[in-house]
Amino acid sequence: MKTNSDLSKQKYMEKHNFVTIADLSKERILYLIQMAREFERHPNRELLKGKVVATLFYEPSTRTRLSFETAANRLGAKVIGFSDAKASSVSKGETLKDTILMVSNYADVIAMRHYIEGAAQYAGEVAPIPIINAGDGAHMHPSQCLLDLYSIYKTQGTLENLNIYLVGDLKYGRTVHSLITAMRHFNPTFHFIAPKELAMPNEYKLYCKEQNIKYQEHTAFNDKIIADADILYMTRVQKERFSDLMEYERVKNVYILRRNMLGLARENMKIMHPLPRVNEIAYDVDDDPHAYYIQQAQNGLYAREAIFCYTLGITLDDIRNDKTIID
Ligand code: CP
Repeated sequence: MKTNSDLSKQKYMEKHNFVTIADLSKERILYLIQMAREFERHPNRELLKGKVVATLFYEPSTRTRLSFETAANRLGAKVIGFSDAKASSVSKGETLKDTILMVSNYADVIAMRHYIEGAAQYAGEVAPIPIINAGDGAHMHPSQCLLDLYSIYKTQGTLENLNIYLVGDLKYGRTVHSLITAMRHFNPTFHFIAPKELAMPNEYKLYCKEQNIKYQEHTAFNDKIIADADILYMTRVQKERFSDLMEYERVKNVYILRRNMLGLARENMKIMHPLPRVNEIAYDVDDDPHAYYIQQAQNGLYAREAIFCYTLGITLDDIRNDKTIID
């Protein structure tokens, strides 16, 4: 006969990977946003008490790793992992498969960032525990995408029918690729603003056509071009993705958003950026009411609490009925 403790264990054993935003239906995205909202109301709970979360970062990170770890801590879990693969047995030649299988012996869920596109997908196929993709090369960054969607929903009151301007490194930018994929459910109009060297790849333009997503391309970046924006999503030109550093030098400062460019902006317009920024948003923008990138990063905590629960089979009802809130 199963005890209550067995049943509760079984409930939390349902494995959901979180490796690509393309897997998520519109209903699932809205459901996760509701979860994030619950965590914004009460971030400190013991829903993951007794669980161990692993964070494996093969690439540098500040926000993603620390907000995943904060999310785990605020939910009562313990955290293990590495922030620098060189300090692990990866430096002795251990394969990704073996590392994932080893860590699966110790943890209940793994959040991992890797420089190879598809690494998280592969890990999800070999691991007996849920895998969360914390960024794979220039491919996807689904947890960033969920926090971006939550930020858009909070600031605009909806995800439907918005004008979204993506600016900067649209070639290598996994956050903009993820956002396009997720927004297919919500009838957006995209504007892609990039120099030709960093233009949106054809595969994503083709994807827009297949999904009936409207888009326009621009190379100019000025107050008139962005006047209709609901969301102005700035991105960093990512030096680490360039094989030719001369090309990086040519494009690194191509667009810089300054406060004097915001005079024609819509009142509801919010400036987002996955961060870190280098030069692409001048510091005089930080005090402007349109600036939202710092709050956006804070939303990452609530979104990542939701992702841990989702991967471990904890439902929105479980969260709403939760009696472990610590105020
Ligand atoms: N947005 C983001 O992925 O930031 P980090 O690289 O600091 O994690």
